[in-house]
Amino acid sequence: MSYNLLKGKKGIIFGALNDKSIAWKIAERAHEEGARFVLSNTPVAIRFGELDKLAEATGSTVIEADATSMKDLNILFEKSMELMGGKIDFILHSIGMSMNVRKGKTYDDLDYEYLKKTIDISAISFHKVLQTARKLDAINEWGSVVALSYVAAQRTLYRYNDMADAKAMLESIARSFGYIYGRDKKIRVNTVSQSPTPTTAGSAVAGFDGLIDFTERMSPLGNATAEECADYCITLFSDLTKKVTMQNLFHDGGFSSMGMSLRAMNMYNKSLEMTIED
Ligand SMILES: NC(=O)c1ccc[n+]([C@@H]2O[C@H](COP(=O)([O-])OP(=O)(O)OC[C@H]3O[C@@H](n4cnc5c(N)ncnc54)[C@H](O)[C@@H]3O)[C@@H](O)[C@H]2O)c1
Repeated sequence: MSYNLLKGKKGIIFGALNDKSIAWKIAERAHEEGARFVLSNTPVAIRFGELDKLAEATGSTVIEADATSMKDLNILFEKSMELMGGKIDFILHSIGMSMNVRKGKTYDDLDYEYLKKTIDISAISFHKVLQTARKLDAINEWGSVVALSYVAAQRTLYRYNDMADAKAMLESIARSFGYIYGRDKKIRVNTVSQSPTPTTAGSAVAGFDGLIDFTERMSPLGNATAEECADYCITLFSDLTKKVTMQNLFHDGGFSSMGMSLRAMNMYNKSLEMTIED
């Protein structure tokens, strides 16, 4: 259902790769709510992904940019403002990648060149996006910037690896930049900490199936889906959340406040019984 929450608003959406991507669902919802936007991703992702399909369905334009490149980001923002006739109102940063995770390197055996890439792509790119937008004065007053995070920024989750460090930095950038952008331009900056979600990046984490089952059992409301994340992000881009800034907002069915649930305990007890029988 559409509420016209983003009627007349313009934005840039980073990170839609295929129809499983959280950014893909957010783009679809933003379109339903009346927004116009540019879709951006790396040249490789555009070549191998399905972004053109999404652009066609939402009447948007695709502009390639490696979010670690200041040059690419400058061109992206300038072209986007030209295309949409002025400043924008919202930005979604939905970008993450770890070569250590991809190559199966464990946290006590990290490749430091990979680690630098993880941090650059998954966290510093958020600063680069914000700094570029600020220098070009690209966002209207009361605009909204959201990046996607994960609870591993606060708690240790087996195998989330160096992405945990990247997410901790990402959330810190939202606070530090949120202060400056709020003070000077009334622009809000937040992170949304989403449940595990079966996407290309999510499924790359080893043991993902077990993790998603565990968090489903632990969360009183169950895991939040990509579609539900899209609904939440739309509220953050809308004028209904104008005074929410510098926050890490958990969108996880309650997982982050739980210690143990009945459903998880039942499963644990079952596996204990099986171990004893063995
Ligand atoms: N899937 C989950 O379980 C989960 C949970 C919480 C948070 N998140 C976060 O959500 C965000 C989106 O991930 P997703 O799960 O939709 O997976 P996804 O694989 O669909 O999206 C990741 C995107 O990052 C893009 N990307 C990688 N390097 C880039 C670069 N240098 N410049 C620009 N874009 C680049 C990829 O092309 C891809 O589109 C990530 O920040 C991820 O950490 C995911």
